Parts: sequence; structure tokens; C-alpha cells
Amino acid sequence: AFNLRNRNFLKLLDFTPKEIAHLLDLSAELKKAKYGGYEQPRLKGKNIALIFEKASTRTRCAFEVAAFDQGAQVSYIGPSGSQIGHKESMKDTARVLGRMYDGIQYRGFGQSIVEELGQFAGVPVWNGLTDEFHPTQILADFLTMLEHGQGKKLSEMKFAYLGDARNNMGNSLMVGAAKMGMDIRLVAPSQFWPEEALVEECQAIAAKTGAQITLTESVEEGVQGCDFLYTDVWVSMGESKEAWDERVAMMKPYQVNMDMIKATGNPDVKFMHCLPAFHNDETTIGAEVAEKYGMKGLEVTEDVFESEYSIVFDEAENRMHTIKAVMVATLGS
Ligand code: CP
Ligand code: NVA
Repeated sequence: AFNLRNRNFLKLLDFTPKEIAHLLDLSAELKKAKYGGYEQPRLKGKNIALIFEKASTRTRCAFEVAAFDQGAQVSYIGPSGSQIGHKESMKDTARVLGRMYDGIQYRGFGQSIVEELGQFAGVPVWNGLTDEFHPTQILADFLTMLEHGQGKKLSEMKFAYLGDARNNMGNSLMVGAAKMGMDIRLVAPSQFWPEEALVEECQAIAAKTGAQITLTESVEEGVQGCDFLYTDVWVSMGESKEAWDERVAMMKPYQVNMDMIKATGNPDVKFMHCLPAFHNDETTIGAEVAEKYGMKGLEVTEDVFESEYSIVFDEAENRMHTIKAVMVATLGS
């Protein structure tokens, strides 16, 4: 009933709620098949290019393992070593890679770059994160919410996203929640709320799907009754190191800690994070910033991250199953 063959996967705004639900169903099916030992390779003989202009652990490995599980081959094109970004335009790159590959993943900077790639490649293009959107992450998050949602439908779930709500995660979670009829609270200093135009677009979608979108600076109001608390780094890839200086003091009240978990009033609340996370001083940037501002953990504390509330590694695993579904749906036989 759902034919997504040859479609690009560039942002959730391009997909209907039914199409998104279909991709989630397919993800769950593929996950079951893999662990049941009856997965069928539907990408046999396909060649896939993975362009990464920014670093990645999860997204790269998810695309590679998903492709291998399904019988496809991949080429990794890293931030250096190709002509991309300095010597050749994306429009020309698209037409070259489109002649050799059956599908292309792109992670990089502006959304307009992946849109241009998608326009000229002639084969499915998948967005593995841009400054504006991270759509494959949202599929993994929603699959994880369904798995931990105690039988609730997405449209029955309430969640808060805390911290930098103007980044790719804030934007994409808002779009996803609007599409799937969820109750989302974007809890952040007002200058870190998503752009007005995107909020309006999402409110228009919400009016049809029954979603509730709340932008608030109040943690108390935002987290009350939530099924999930979600956060992300306060400074994203591609932003300047100096950004930490303007942000830490402003973001501090939005750190996910045990007091915030309690403030939800929900003993079954779950903690989510797309990762990587700064929850202790075991990472270079995290340690530097935490020391400078006298903090232990930044956007989330170690005790929450390592607690029973935390489902972050289920999310990470689900990147693979959901990315596999995107590739199978758009390129599979
Ligand atoms: N969540 C996520 O996209 O992780 P990577 O940056 O490791 O791909
Ligand atoms: N907002 C983060 C997400 C990483 C998966 C970033 O863009 O760096």
C-alpha cells in the first residue's frame, strides 16, 4: 500500500504521518527478522555511497551494518580525500555519484546542500544529519518510544525536549511530533526555540493531527506528566567553540538531572538522548567545558545517564534498524 520506492529521505516534512508510521512498522519487522534469523536481503547488488562532511559513529555504522545485512556494498567518503566541498560543486558531485551508486547518504552542513544532492543525483538520497534536520534519528527515537511506551500509541505520548531547541534535533523532533499527533514541549531559553516559520508550519500540521506543541522557558511546566525527557548537546557540530561561553549559564537550568526526573511526577519516565552526550568528564570537549564552568556533566548528569530511566543505548541500536527500513523502502526489491 505504501510505495516509497525511489523517494529521497531528506526531512520528515516531506512525508505523511502514514508514511512515517509505515517506516516505523517496517523497522520493527526488520528488527524482528534479524534477531529471528529470517532476514531477507532486499538490497542485494546495490552500491551505496556514504558522504560524511562531519564526524559520526552511530549514523555511519548504522548505514554500513544495515547495508551489509541487506546484501549491499558501501563506500565511505569522509570529510577529506574527495573533491567535495572545495573543488567540485554538489550539483556535479550528485550527477557523478548518481551514475555509479544506487543510493547516497549525506551528512553535512546546510539542508540546502542535501536538497541539491537529492535533486540532481537521480537515485535516492538520505539525510544523515544537516544543521537543520536529523530525520533518521527521529525514526529511531519514535521506534524506541514505542518499545518503551507501555502500549501507548505515539499520539498518546507526552515528551519534553530540553536545551538547544533551535538545532537539528529540536527542529526534527518538533516536526516528527507534529506529524504523529504527539504532545511535545520544547523547553529552552526563548532565543533557543525553533525558528518562527518552522513553528508555524508545525502548528498548521498539528491542527490536523491533534498534536500539541508547547514552547516554554519553564522546566516545571514543560516536564510535568511527561513520558520521556529528551536532550542533546548544547553546542552542535559545525558551531564555534566560543558558543559554549554564551550558552552554559543560560542552559544550566535545563540540565536533565534527578530533580527534573522527579518533577515529571511520572515514576516510569524515560530519559533519551541522540548521543554523543556530555554526562561526565571522559570526553575531550565535555571535560574542558565542564571544568571551565565547574559542572559535572553538562546537558545530563551521570546519575541520570546511567540510571534505569535511561534508554539511550536502545535508541542508538534502533538507528540501525530504522536506517535499514529507510533504505529498504526507498531502494529495496
Ligand atoms: N546520533 C548520531 O547521529 O550520532 P553520530 O554523530 O555518532 O552519527
Ligand atoms: N545536535 C547534534 C546532534 C548529533 C547527533 C549535532 O548536530 O552535533
